[in-house]
Amino acid sequence: MRPDSRVVLVSGGAGYIGSHVTHVLKLAGFSPVVVDSLVSGNLWATRSANAFRQGDVGDRDFIRAICDEFRPVAAMHFAAFIEVGESVKRPEKYFTNNRDKAKVFFDTLAEKGGGNIVFSSTAAVYGEITDSAPVREDRPTRPINPYGQSKLDAESHLRGIGNVKSVALRYFNVAGAEPSVDLGEAHFPETHLIPRIVLPLIDAPKDIRTALGLAAGFRIFGTDYPTRDGTAVRDYIHVMDLADAHIRALRYLLDGGKTEVFNLGSGAGYSVKEIVEAARTTLQRGDFNPGIEPRREGDPAILIADSMKAKVTLGWGPQRGIDRMIASAAAWHRSQTYAETIVKKANTASQ
Ligand code: UFG
Repeated sequence: MRPDSRVVLVSGGAGYIGSHVTHVLKLAGFSPVVVDSLVSGNLWATRSANAFRQGDVGDRDFIRAICDEFRPVAAMHFAAFIEVGESVKRPEKYFTNNRDKAKVFFDTLAEKGGGNIVFSSTAAVYGEITDSAPVREDRPTRPINPYGQSKLDAESHLRGIGNVKSVALRYFNVAGAEPSVDLGEAHFPETHLIPRIVLPLIDAPKDIRTALGLAAGFRIFGTDYPTRDGTAVRDYIHVMDLADAHIRALRYLLDGGKTEVFNLGSGAGYSVKEIVEAARTTLQRGDFNPGIEPRREGDPAILIADSMKAKVTLGWGPQRGIDRMIASAAAWHRSQTYAETIVKKANTASQ
């Protein structure tokens, strides 16, 4: 069966990153077909897709039927659980979903003719980074939690499949939104720094702040790290820059590129205090003075990407800075779609 050169299968396209990539795929002239279990994704986030089918990537017959119906030339695999802390408490959930189901998904695509796969991986595959040098792709991979290990195992399996070419994209810290098309992150619980700073600063409704554990406001986790101001340093990229990297990775594969792995970050680090300062300025909240708590378990001091390989091979580089990440996140978190989604998820969780 000849593939349709425009059709791209997007697993997890109802999630935060998958929905932004689906939107950009459509803008780039592709025909995205989203498959998502909706266990944590949102139906509204699939509105840019040419088609949506609800189902599980670990369901071989479901994926076979999707391949027969749409004949995708490529697939992007986002469907995964993403909470590092939860993965330590419930490793089986992560190994079953992020590793075993990913293997079924990849193997079924291979059985149906192979093709090209872009895989959503993570900086968590590198594990404990004890120095401050930007991390290159040839750093040893030594995950320190089941989340990172499950993603690394899926990467390794994918690389070993004969008739599939793949790109694994190892993301650092992703933030921001595309509020002009009503897209953004709606995690429940929400553990990420930028939404946790932004929600109290935009005076999000009390029920939302309470549901997300922000009733007492935002808190900095640890001011005793060996960094320039004592708070942890991360490399943040805008979700729309990340989406652009996916389109470039896809075109690279379709143009005959070989199997590769790329880090995606900006190469610049911001400390938590620097993000706080940027939020004060961007959102004009000079009165913002967050409280301080001890370190969150498992957080490394510094994590910065060396993305030179993506620049050289994919011609990719981030275009949107931290101010835009904060401003777009603020616009999105003010939206009715966001508020309704969190209220619904909080109600479901409390039942
Ligand atoms: N932080 C706070 N207060 C909060 C939330 C976070 O001070 O309320 C701090 C964290 O302790 C950390 C920094 O902000 O120092 C960034 O935290 P995030 O949770 O936003 O991001 P992480 O760097 O912990 O995690 C990210 C991805 C993970 C991925 C990991 C790779 O979200 O999916 O990078 O190391 F696994």
